[in-house]
Amino acid sequence: MADADVILPGATLGIVGGGQLGRMFALEARRMGYRVLVLDPGADAPAAQVADEHIQAPFSDPAAMRALAERSDVVTLEWENADVATLREIERIVPVRPGPGVLEVAQHRVREKDAARSLGVLTAGYRAVATRQELRDALAEIGTPAVLKTARFGYDGKGQAVIRDASTSAIESAFAAVTGDLQDGLKELILEEWVRFTMEVSVVCARTARGEMACFPVAENVHRNAILDVSIVPARVDDEVARQAREVAERMAEGLGVVGLLAVEMFVGEDGRVRMNEVAPRPHNSGHYTLEACPVSQFEQQLRAVCGLPLGSTDLLRPAAMANLMGDDAGTALGRPGAAEALAVPETALHLYGKREARPGRKMGHLTSLGSTPDEALERVGRARSRLVEGAG
Ligand SMILES: Nc1ncnc2c1ncn2[C@@H]1O[C@H](COP(=O)(O)OP(=O)(O)OP(=O)(O)O)[C@@H](O)[C@H]1O
Ligand SMILES: [Mg+2]
Repeated sequence: MADADVILPGATLGIVGGGQLGRMFALEARRMGYRVLVLDPGADAPAAQVADEHIQAPFSDPAAMRALAERSDVVTLEWENADVATLREIERIVPVRPGPGVLEVAQHRVREKDAARSLGVLTAGYRAVATRQELRDALAEIGTPAVLKTARFGYDGKGQAVIRDASTSAIESAFAAVTGDLQDGLKELILEEWVRFTMEVSVVCARTARGEMACFPVAENVHRNAILDVSIVPARVDDEVARQAREVAERMAEGLGVVGLLAVEMFVGEDGRVRMNEVAPRPHNSGHYTLEACPVSQFEQQLRAVCGLPLGSTDLLRPAAMANLMGDDAGTALGRPGAAEALAVPETALHLYGKREARPGRKMGHLTSLGSTPDEALERVGRARSRLVEGAG
């Protein structure tokens, strides 16, 4: 089965981005005997702490990107805002997976939704806008409530404003909040219809260069302040909704020609129909449960996909729930006096990302609990988190 394109253990895997996703990828890669090279501007980046080598440089530094390419057998990413033009250049030196074309779409909310629609995937109603007049026109078509977002560089609900009515003051304050009071036309925005959903779900789908695909089970996601708080797996939806969610993820991964992972966030509408919200061409916070609950984690699957190895099983061995540990929860700072009490909860795993500074809204780590049912896993992870945060139980 010798295949010239297979990247075997011993090879060097380059990662753009050194956050927690890169850290968990690097730990899996090193377990499998690969070398890991991380590009990240931070001196003490979570992934750099566990990688073989670290290029400490800004993502916008073309020389650093070239160095990453020259020293790696394949380049993958955990951060999707890398400069597409630079990636196109280094693609001449090394395979970049997923490729720059996928990033170009995933970096832009309008292109993402255009791509979905052209693949026959349902989304919320939306309009690209850049000026106040375009915003007024879009609101007249889409109605209220609606949400105005920056088309690029949004994460964890940043760069978003809900518009509850089409009054001049509501329009002005949303525009100012999202553009930082820039003049008309300087920033690309998107106005989206406010989806009345019964649940948010996500699917992480892997795809190889040969077009083989495998989806992990559907996760049910609960957000707090527009940041993922808890994921429950399997999502407590009927089979038809789960089928739609997997189909949306596969269509997007295939349609975009992803080699690697594509995480797809979706809304389950009150009408029972699944709508694509956004895609991320990398491992996803809602897929962390795979480390404990599946034979192969999302991180190993990313490695398998980008190295041309056979994809692993995505079976769910046991229901699971994951809870994020945020920098604003007392007790997730360095001491973590409640760790022992938290780990006394059955079938519970603790992950901390090695971030020294706990800031509000910063993801410091997570807990995953397994159980006989999704509800039992959820109860356990909630109990473990309150013990960890409160320092006792
Ligand atoms: N059109 C919408 N209708 C209803 N809720 C929405 C809509 N857009 C966003 N939200 C809510 O805000 C959350 C964050 O939005 P979105 O996923 O678009 O932004 P993000 O900043 O890229 O988030 P992240 O990077 O954390 O996934 C969603 O998970 C959802 O709860
Ligand atoms: Mg999101």
